[in-house]
Amino acid sequence: MMNNINPSDWIVNQVELITKKNKINTIIDVACGFGRHSVYLANKNYKVVSIDIDFKKLRTFTNNKNIRSACLNLENHEYWPIQSYFDIVIVVNYLYRSNFKNILNLVKKDGYLIYETFCIGNEKYGKPKRKEYLLENKELKNITDNRFVIKDFYQGIVYVPAKSFKQMLVAKRVAM
Ligand SMILES: C[S@@+](CC[C@H](N)C(=O)[O-])C[C@H]1O[C@@H](n2cnc3c(N)ncnc32)[C@H](O)[C@@H]1O
Repeated sequence: MMNNINPSDWIVNQVELITKKNKINTIIDVACGFGRHSVYLANKNYKVVSIDIDFKKLRTFTNNKNIRSACLNLENHEYWPIQSYFDIVIVVNYLYRSNFKNILNLVKKDGYLIYETFCIGNEKYGKPKRKEYLLENKELKNITDNRFVIKDFYQGIVYVPAKSFKQMLVAKRVAM
């Protein structure tokens, strides 16, 4: 099974910038996969909640004392399973448009959403190629409503771990 073991450099940099200036108690890694971001953060001594639908992936890393994991389906239209708020919400390489609003709602007041995933244009370079898995032009910017202030946004080519086309957003929640 394909497994990028290194965390995204961009995610690491953004977390460092935020944690320099803010006291961070809780971080959630949404659709965490094999937990490359969860493990990186847990090893830095942050308390991390790691969510994925795939139990086999979760069990590869969740013996870490700073990680609480939960095997949850985030695409059940009847029920959104996470009722807590977090100082940092991380989403990487995962897109399911119907849960955008629920993901935004996970962010505490004065907390941050850090979101990185593939966007339209990526089909030239590799997978994913299907529109349902590719953000539209500036889509991450457009989904953040007026409770959020955009702190960073990038749309373009990324070279690591492979050439791809991505969007990256950091947004701070300024109102509930
Ligand atoms: C491409 S992987 C990204 C993993 C991780 N964020 C990373 O960057 O390494 C997408 C992940 O989304 C998870 N996923 C897919 N559908 C899901 C669902 N309905 N609920 C929760 N997780 C889901 C998959 O199991 C997979 O681990």
